Amino acid sequence: MLLEVLKYPHPVLKQKAEPVLVVTPEIRELAENMLETMYENDGIGLAAPQVGELKRMVVIDVTGPDAREAPMVLINPEVARIGEDVESEEGCLSVEEYRNTLIRSDRVRLKATDLDGKPVELEAEDILAVCLQHECDHLDGILFIDHLSRLKRSLYDSKVKKRLKAKNG
Ligand code: NI
Repeated sequence: MLLEVLKYPHPVLKQKAEPVLVVTPEIRELAENMLETMYENDGIGLAAPQVGELKRMVVIDVTGPDAREAPMVLINPEVARIGEDVESEEGCLSVEEYRNTLIRSDRVRLKATDLDGKPVELEAEDILAVCLQHECDHLDGILFIDHLSRLKRSLYDSKVKKRLKAKNG
């Protein structure tokens, strides 16, 4: 089932998500729906708060919606930055018609569990590392635009304001 993706400045996107204590059938279904929604929207990652669920879980597939070769469902993921700073050009399914460049780490260590409760521990680099940082930020109510310089951010916010005004008359 396709889920609605919340768009900035929806207030849920700013909230901190709660840990998942038990993987219930509902959580499995949510994971499946999140993957479908991510692929359908041409995304490579989606966090539960983006579909209105304040739960610490994300789905990722950096091979993209055409290949669909590496779907990951991560429950209670934690990332530690262990690499060098790199410039990363990002967009977000919750941030419409906008991309910009920010600084991420090119390498991370990930700890999470999978849907069977098994621990997932790995080191990731490049696009997977960046994607993990982006998605885990969502679980703490942080969007990539929160990492931009004040100037870039205020330009973006005025663009959004104009768009909302045009839409609402
Ligand atoms: Ni995002």
